[in-house]
Amino acid sequence: METNNNNSFEPKVVAFVCNWCTYAGADLTGTSRIKYAPNVKIIRFPCTGRIDYMLLMKAFANGADGIIVSGCHPNDCHYTSGNFHARRRWMIFRNLCDFIGMDMNRVVFSWVSAAEGAKWAEIVNTTVDTIRQLGPATSFQKLIKNSVFEEVGNE
Ligand code: FES
Repeated sequence: METNNNNSFEPKVVAFVCNWCTYAGADLTGTSRIKYAPNVKIIRFPCTGRIDYMLLMKAFANGADGIIVSGCHPNDCHYTSGNFHARRRWMIFRNLCDFIGMDMNRVVFSWVSAAEGAKWAEIVNTTVDTIRQLGPATSFQKLIKNSVFEEVGNE
């Protein structure tokens, strides 16, 4: 695992979440006044099955230091099996990250229901702490930007 010596570094984490479970869980975190790291930007999707993993690469290319993907627990997806599709794609995405040498501690996949506000706070805090130790993902940002998005016209 990489380590960071820059104490002033504040990680940028992008969370791709489904509307029905994790987004509602994150909302519960706020309404329950549970504090968690403000380093996360949440992007809401109808379902994790709709998340194109190229968007994760694009988030890294545009400055993210870490990623969270989170949705409904298995068998709770509001579209029946979207989260199972997401999990399959996730395994391929992990292999891609591994291939390009990205530290897998920068990407987190989780299930958080609408009733798990405390769990959401814990996942965000743990992820931010881990990324803070790893430091900025600058080398991956350049690599991804140059190798993936330059070739397709930086869509
Ligand atoms: Fe939440 Fe499908 S609706 S993962």
